[in-house]
Amino acid sequence: MKFTVDQNQCIGCGACESICPDVFKMPDDKAQVILNPVPENRQPDALAAEDGCPVGAISHTND
Ligand code: F3S
Repeated sequence: MKFTVDQNQCIGCGACESICPDVFKMPDDKAQVILNPVPENRQPDALAAEDGCPVGAISHTND
């Protein structure tokens, strides 16, 4: 499973990093994915971060 943050949509709210800091980091004002593909044991939290993004900037593929 691979995750992407759309840099044009991200408003830098930081929710993804709070929910799943192993996968999402905020080096500046936008979130970055720091672990791709996401290992199975981190996928539930990464999916929760995707669900929790207020602007829907996070997406994933199942490859
Ligand atoms: Fe950006 Fe959404 Fe994370 S707005 S900081 S990708 S929760």
